[in-house]
Amino acid sequence: MKPLKRIFVVGGELSTFIGKGHPDFVWKKHPDFGKRENPSLEDYLSQAINGALEKTGVDAEAIDRGFVGNFAGELFNSQGHLGAMAVRANEKLVGKPFTRLEGACASGGLAILSAMDALHAGSDVVMAVGAEVQTTVSAREGAGYLARASHWEEERSIDEFTFPAMFARRAKHYKEAFGVTDEDIAHVTVKAYENANKNPKAHMSKVSWDLESASTPGDRNPAFLGNEELKPHLKVSDCSQVSDGGAAVILATEEGLKKLGKKPEDCIEVLAYAQATSPLGQVKDYTVLDNTKMAADQVYADAGITPEQVQVAEVHDCFAVTELLMYEALGFAEKGKGAELARAGETGLTGKIPVNTGGGLLAFGHPVGATGVKQLLEIYRQMKGQCGDYQLAERPEIGLTANMGGDDRTTVCIALKDV
Ligand code: CAA
Repeated sequence: MKPLKRIFVVGGELSTFIGKGHPDFVWKKHPDFGKRENPSLEDYLSQAINGALEKTGVDAEAIDRGFVGNFAGELFNSQGHLGAMAVRANEKLVGKPFTRLEGACASGGLAILSAMDALHAGSDVVMAVGAEVQTTVSAREGAGYLARASHWEEERSIDEFTFPAMFARRAKHYKEAFGVTDEDIAHVTVKAYENANKNPKAHMSKVSWDLESASTPGDRNPAFLGNEELKPHLKVSDCSQVSDGGAAVILATEEGLKKLGKKPEDCIEVLAYAQATSPLGQVKDYTVLDNTKMAADQVYADAGITPEQVQVAEVHDCFAVTELLMYEALGFAEKGKGAELARAGETGLTGKIPVNTGGGLLAFGHPVGATGVKQLLEIYRQMKGQCGDYQLAERPEIGLTANMGGDDRTTVCIALKDV
């Protein structure tokens, strides 16, 4: 929808995203093992909330409502009731209405949508925060938790690594339909890690992949699925990370900006937002993200912009092939031509439509509930010139986010403009 009143993103903050492969992540061979613990879900909520207040100079007293995106706190951390957990972060938030939203990997996007709905309903200043801690269990066990975002009864049995297998199935169909190769898909991985290597907050800031190793299965890059039909279509380098982290943003109306003593030009503006939801377990065509396309078409129509006008995008690259499908669903490439766009380098930092400039889910990391919130904040940071070594040479004026839950079953798209 097109906002009924002007909505501004005032700013926010995110934690470093960490997990296996990040130097700060404590695991059994880490020198700090037994000496310190990795941050908890509560730590990330607190870091993000207080970080966002500090970064924006907003007094917590000014926050009217808060929305918390988290997918599976009950499973990974034995912790639900995260609205009440979030207000532990700051005593000035005690008593304020904070509510948790869940829509699988789109939980963060849904938190932002609810925050904007609250602005329409009369609030002036709201916060959306997202956090997830997934490293409490092995990747295999965690894959079972993440599989709750599929139709459990009908889809869980595809593989113990349910989501990797569902997207290996998309890769298989996409490659077969359009003659795309593993090397074409690997361009997405290489770009993601190159960007993350410029981003100190990224989970994979110190890890890199070259085109040959990302294209080829091997000891470092195992094809790890148990499903024999799908196994050849997915390797470790094709996958987003099992990350921990948090992110928070503050949004306000014009009235809210006045209360905060801020000007519209300190902010970026929401042009339009949309959510589309499709039935679990009923993907009609594995070569298309048709749910995302519905959300994107709506957002373009409501914002009055075309894909050609978008100068920076944050898209849900839960797997490398997903980013190619995103290019097509968002109108950056025609059907079947996403791989050509990646191969030509057009979605890199110097290309015509830079995508996932900080490394995306593949290499910035994917702390599920935080991802949608981080996407919005990344567009803000690019527009305000805050991205350090991965800052685009020309600050973008129009940006887009696409945050997806499940196998393209819930998608949130937001169109943004610098003021
Ligand atoms: N040869 C063969 N097999 C090997 C191997 C080798 N050299 N090394 C590892 N493996 C196999 C093993 O079977 C191993 O499992 P077990 O050890 O448990 O038997 C498996 O590969 C994974 O190995 P690791 O646990 O050592 O791998 P890791 O911890 O480095 O994790 C990863 C790698 C499995 C790819 C992990 O990063 C991952 O699961 N990523 C995807 C996360 C994900 O699915 N997120 C959700 C995305 S979907 C979305 O966004 C939408 C939504 O709503 C859910």
